[in-house]
Amino acid sequence: MPPYYLTTPIYYVNDAPHVGTAYTTVNADALARWHRLVGDEVWFMTGTDEHGAKIVEAAEANGTTPQDWTDRTSARFVEAWRRLDIAYDDFIRTTEPRHYAVVQRFLQRIYDNGYIELAPYSGLYCVSCEDYYTEDQLIEGTCPVHGRPVIEMQEDNYFFKLSAFEDRLLEFYDQHPDFVRPVSKRNEALGFIRGGLRDVSITRTSFTWGVPVPWDSGHVFYVWYDALINYLTVAGYGSDDAAFASRWGAAHHLIGKDILKFHCVWWPAMCMAAQIDPPDEIFVHGYLLMGGQKLGKTMIAAGAAGGDGAKALRVTDVSPLALADDFGVDPLRYHLVRDVPLGGDGDFSYEGIVSRYNADLANNLGNLVSRVTTVVQSKCGGVGPACDEGSELAAVAAETLETTAAAWARWAPHEGLEATWRLIGAANARLEAAEPWKMEPGPAVDAVLGDALEVLRIVAVLIGPAMPATAREVWRRIGVPGDPGSARLPDAAAWGGYEGGATVEKGAPLFPRRKA
Ligand code: MSP
Repeated sequence: MPPYYLTTPIYYVNDAPHVGTAYTTVNADALARWHRLVGDEVWFMTGTDEHGAKIVEAAEANGTTPQDWTDRTSARFVEAWRRLDIAYDDFIRTTEPRHYAVVQRFLQRIYDNGYIELAPYSGLYCVSCEDYYTEDQLIEGTCPVHGRPVIEMQEDNYFFKLSAFEDRLLEFYDQHPDFVRPVSKRNEALGFIRGGLRDVSITRTSFTWGVPVPWDSGHVFYVWYDALINYLTVAGYGSDDAAFASRWGAAHHLIGKDILKFHCVWWPAMCMAAQIDPPDEIFVHGYLLMGGQKLGKTMIAAGAAGGDGAKALRVTDVSPLALADDFGVDPLRYHLVRDVPLGGDGDFSYEGIVSRYNADLANNLGNLVSRVTTVVQSKCGGVGPACDEGSELAAVAAETLETTAAAWARWAPHEGLEATWRLIGAANARLEAAEPWKMEPGPAVDAVLGDALEVLRIVAVLIGPAMPATAREVWRRIGVPGDPGSARLPDAAAWGGYEGGATVEKGAPLFPRRKA
């Protein structure tokens, strides 16, 4: 089985999980599930980024210690991802001893290789970004991202000699045209490199909440220089050579566009400095936006957060768990994977979730399940008939598998789902044309329903990565044993798998229509 190591960013614990972080995590989980479905040996990780001045600030603001604060907040991510059915193989916290060991080993190597040196540093620092700015990058004297005042920092710092890697990075990008995708983001990364790289200050002495520098105990590593290395800790760097060899050779990072510079410029240079290969691929997605503003930090649908009705806006976070309570976990997952294509920005609105839910889930998939199971009760005695090997829907299913698989393989799960929905549409159209509910019981009805059941069997396999619980429920209702999540493509989607003879259950509507 080819290895496939997939990562999300590790999230800061100064805040609770919100719809922005859920967007990345749910899409990554769906992609991981897809790769399992096609038979890859997947290792999927996420986690929390727990060091740095921002966390110390958040802990102080909440009247507690950084350790207590990170324990509590990291647990909120674990709980949120459990609720959203995120099937990760590893969850890393950067405060774990295993991570300290890898950070120290990796950065010691870079130090020994001569790419880290001590120098005085002063600059304008934004605590929220955990990053320095130059005077001309500020907007009216404040941080361009957060609008908050920057502080004058003066430290004796260790610097990573990023400037030594300009040519090597350009050469690497040249030799690896798909290293960063989509191409617009690759160009952005190249723009950073061509614009000239300055050495980066990578240690702090102003606080102690970080990984200690092994060769100079008065310093801790700067949070980004500890955070990026998490991908190596989980891959087994220095602790499990066999796992590391297989995972690191197949490492795929999914990140948001806000952290492009760190991943697409700093990170490959750090890997080169430590004499390991950069990751295989970095896919950069856009932002969920509300009213043109970044959702995670500023705006929200009050209805989504459990407020007064469905549509009012207020300035707080959108809780993905409140949305899951409102719509159901799978409808939320479906929305996050289907509605904002990975790569570009997209609007997020409560109305958008409702209309997608009604169009695709209530009117299409839900409707198909309900029609088929109802008519099997009334015309076939509740027992599903076998499908017809020569059905006209067999060709549609084959074409669907091909387009769906191609889309997921190129980081376009929204197109994958769109393709799958064409098969659902074709099955609904066939039912509408044949009107089995008006026919007398007999072979003609059996043929139509057997084919529709086979479509549902295949559809459940293909939607499973986005909607795992729904996929299981569809199989259960139509009497297919097992879990579609354990199925393997292409066999599981080959026409003819629905054997007939199983009890079919009608059940309540899967997706009752929503008003608003
Ligand atoms: N801790 C760093 C990442 C270190 S990775 C080695 C960090 N954490 S974060 O909590 O701020 O998460 C940033 C990520 O959250 C983004 O890259 C993106 O994946 C996700 N998103 C945050 N807001 C988002 C939107 N509004 N829309 C989409 N994704 C968003 O940066």
